[in-house]
Amino acid sequence: MDEKRRQLLAGISLAGAGVLLNACTTSNRTGSATNDENKNDGPAPGEAAPVEVTAAEDLMREHGILRRALLVYQESAVRLRQDPASVPPDVLEKTANLFRVFGEDYHERKLEEVYIFPVLKKSTGAVASYVDILLSQHARGREITDYFLSITSADSIPSNSVEPLAKALESFVRMYEHHAAIEDTIIFPAWKAAAGEAELDQLAAKFEEIETELFGGDGFETALKRMEEIETSLGLSNLDMFTAPAIIR
Ligand SMILES: [Fe+2]
Ligand SMILES: [Fe+2]
Repeated sequence: MDEKRRQLLAGISLAGAGVLLNACTTSNRTGSATNDENKNDGPAPGEAAPVEVTAAEDLMREHGILRRALLVYQESAVRLRQDPASVPPDVLEKTANLFRVFGEDYHERKLEEVYIFPVLKKSTGAVASYVDILLSQHARGREITDYFLSITSADSIPSNSVEPLAKALESFVRMYEHHAAIEDTIIFPAWKAAAGEAELDQLAAKFEEIETELFGGDGFETALKRMEEIETSLGLSNLDMFTAPAIIR
């Protein structure tokens, strides 16, 4: 396994890798060879029964992790303008690292660009026309993530970089929210219809195989844990704080 990759995703020391490997043993996904081999074992006493995750659902819940990173970016842009010192560069760096490893290198490069977009590019109609735009957005996203990683590697963000960084965070969020929304509602359903049931089952297992190969275990669970840590460190982990105020008439 690529140790560097694992550490980047973990965003912490090697202790994180242990968590990752541990997460693998408690994964609730099915469809892998390992799980198939154990499918008659059933859950241990006190454990929840495994829940099947389809290939399309897998992609969509990965978007869930990436959307949580976008929420961190969005909040960071607001805070940077109010009080730049309230946004620790290392927290933004961890978020950008997670987006790079889990979003750009895995979700986009290993899954969408290999298994989803080529199928739809061959189709006729409006869906095929989205593919080139989505690919160019992947490329633009990687450029912006490079910028986030370089600017957050310092101990503090230079004052003349605060506004450009806030703007870049906002434009990244805007682009990727639209990107993921089109994939969830147009691209993945079209791919699902084109692929057929049997192929989707095979791909669910394939996706898990790729994830295990890249992350040494359940990358989703590890990424989720990392996102929760990032949110906690920024004081964003209380969902209720985002409940909209009542309308005053
Ligand atoms: Fe994408
Ligand atoms: Fe995606």
